[in-house]
Amino acid sequence: MTNDRLPFPFPVAAWTGASVRLIDQTRLPVELVFRDCRTIDELGEAIRVLAVRGAPAIGVAAAYGLVLSWHLGVAAGEDLPALGRGLDRDREALAATRPTAVNLFWALRRVHDAAVAALASGADTATVGETLLREARTIHDEDIAMGRALGRAGEALLPDEGAVLTHCNAGGLATAGYGTALGVVYAATEAGKRIHVYADETRPLLQGARLTAWELQNQGIPVTVLPDVAAATLLRQGRVDAVITGADRIAANGDAANKIGTYPLAVLARRHGVPFYVAAPSSTIDPDTATGDEIEIEQRHPDEIHGHRGERFTPEGVAAFNPAFDVTPAELITAIITESGVVKPPYDLDTLLPKC
Ligand code: MRU
Repeated sequence: MTNDRLPFPFPVAAWTGASVRLIDQTRLPVELVFRDCRTIDELGEAIRVLAVRGAPAIGVAAAYGLVLSWHLGVAAGEDLPALGRGLDRDREALAATRPTAVNLFWALRRVHDAAVAALASGADTATVGETLLREARTIHDEDIAMGRALGRAGEALLPDEGAVLTHCNAGGLATAGYGTALGVVYAATEAGKRIHVYADETRPLLQGARLTAWELQNQGIPVTVLPDVAAATLLRQGRVDAVITGADRIAANGDAANKIGTYPLAVLARRHGVPFYVAAPSSTIDPDTATGDEIEIEQRHPDEIHGHRGERFTPEGVAAFNPAFDVTPAELITAIITESGVVKPPYDLDTLLPKC
């Protein structure tokens, strides 16, 4: 297991000048290694296998992916029209990696639009390349700032001393480096509060057990991992002050898609009178999706359910159901914490729309 400490915010994704460099989250917490994606195929594969994951982090990685696309086209000696076609093709390829997190499509659109505007203004190859990189870095920086702002907005909801239950990983590793649900915990800790985090292990890919536990330990915050099914007991015993999760997409009516297992937590929180908060930057809000019913839920390979790291534990021949996300209805969400503040129901789309 790695005890390496990372600078905070975490260097989740970066442009090196020739590759998109990612922390390989499939290897944590065993080892802290970086993965250099030198082609669009390599980056697409890294997103598909969750080497980079979490809605905002996927968006930032894909934004740098369009920088990579341009870089590769220039290195191959392509002219401006061919470079533009390459950008369209690679945007489509990256958009096809994972369907649920809206940040992916949002970031690709922003960077692509910036390039199209530069091309339309008659910019040369080098200038368009600089424009792409500037826009990707802006998205990266904005995400860190959004995490800090939503953390500050959300920490006021927590007691001076208490416990937060979270699911999956909505921390520094899932964003440009600061976090959403865990951003609230980091901000509370910075404000002098003593917060203990209960982290659902998060079957089947164990983002809670592997990543949330690792990053909180890395930051010196006390954390206890529990099997997902133990959350009911914890809540019933009155040991949780707030449940806070991230989101992959928030529909216009406030319904929120997040890692499978989030919806049952919201039901349990309501049953036990504990507030259930969704923490997400405005880039996770999709005004074009009216309700959660319209959100495409990624279905992942059944082998993720059948076994772990090559060892099968279900009988050969049985089927497996493996949706990666579920939708929590807005009526179960006590409040949505964004960088603009804490929004309570009825959710007013105007106050939640992306500001940038
Ligand atoms: O499949 P993953 O690991 O990408 O799922 C991640 C989540 O569900 C996170 O909670 C969500 O993206 C919010 S991250 C700030």
